[in-house]
Amino acid sequence: MTGEPDERRPIVVEGEAGVGRAAALLRSGGLVAFPTETVYGLGADASDVDAVRRIFAAKGRPADHPLIVHLPDAALLDAWAVEVPTAAWHLAHAFWPGPLTLLLSRSPQVPDVVTGGRATVGLRVPDHPLALHLLREVGRGVAAPSANRFGRVSPTTADDVVDELGDAVDLVLDGGPCRVGVESTIVDLSGDEPVVLRPGGVGIERLAAVLGRAPAAPADPAPTSGAPAPGMLPAHYAPSARVVVVEADAAPTAAAELAALGEGRVGLLAPTVTEGLAPDVLELEPAGRPEEYARVLYGRLRQADRLHVRWLVCVPPDPSGVGLAVRDRLDRAATAGGASEA
Ligand code: TXA
Ligand code: MG
Repeated sequence: MTGEPDERRPIVVEGEAGVGRAAALLRSGGLVAFPTETVYGLGADASDVDAVRRIFAAKGRPADHPLIVHLPDAALLDAWAVEVPTAAWHLAHAFWPGPLTLLLSRSPQVPDVVTGGRATVGLRVPDHPLALHLLREVGRGVAAPSANRFGRVSPTTADDVVDELGDAVDLVLDGGPCRVGVESTIVDLSGDEPVVLRPGGVGIERLAAVLGRAPAAPADPAPTSGAPAPGMLPAHYAPSARVVVVEADAAPTAAAELAALGEGRVGLLAPTVTEGLAPDVLELEPAGRPEEYARVLYGRLRQADRLHVRWLVCVPPDPSGVGLAVRDRLDRAATAGGASEA
């Protein structure tokens, strides 16, 4: 950002200095974007129905997409959920604070506007010092989706939030770039067995180690319409560029063929340097191993858009750990087909 006066620019405050003001705004019904270890969230007091409605308006998000409630401490789980199973306590103990969201049977006082009228509520304790400080200061649950316009790429820096939301947010708390870079893993614990609705910052292998068995994948991970969202839509997390996902050995040919269409600039994102690329293909800086790939993924997608890339060929990382979440997001971006209005 240039720092020049801009009437669409919200107040941005760096670090601990902004926490008191952010907490006061949240307590009085304001919208505050804040950093977490995964992506930036767009927060409102989860018990304030009007404030939560403002989140949906700011994002352009349909009301049937529920919000995750952020808590400062696992001890508050009981206040928001009922019939909390032992597995939830085990997972909370193992991974909170951290990039894991638990879906549990909601307590009666959770407003319908937060859960989209569902029987479950998503809860998480984020692992970021500013987020935790803010949540303690607010002293209430903070409902927060990712701080992007609906269907678009999640923000991983304060500048990304400003680009996405402008002054639709009252204040942006700047905590620097997010460490994990993709959203939390969502595990539904409200049924008979744990189901992973969204792969994320906590790898499936680590969940399985704590649960004593591999969690199930959702029965229908890709609903084709805008019907009630069981975690997410197939076409989500989309840059303006059209994303094509291919394995490494197919990348040079895929990129050359797209370049030959003459429809616009072709870019490439891969874990390592790709040999044998056609000279007119724009190679983005390699994204590295799964953890590094996750951290830089959304920034690279935004960079591709800034560079007016029309087709972005993406070679996914190894699917272990957070690599599975990176593959999931690339597949969703590819499904969206570019310039999503979702
Ligand atoms: O890492 C994260 O989870 C970030 C940070 C800010 O915490 N938050 C985030 O929120 O990614 P959001 O709203 O962008 O994505 C949460 C997803 C949405 O697809 C939503 O529909 C789903 O979780 N979700 C939330 N509560 C749910 C519930 N009770 N039942 C089914 N899906 C739910
Ligand atoms: Mg989101």
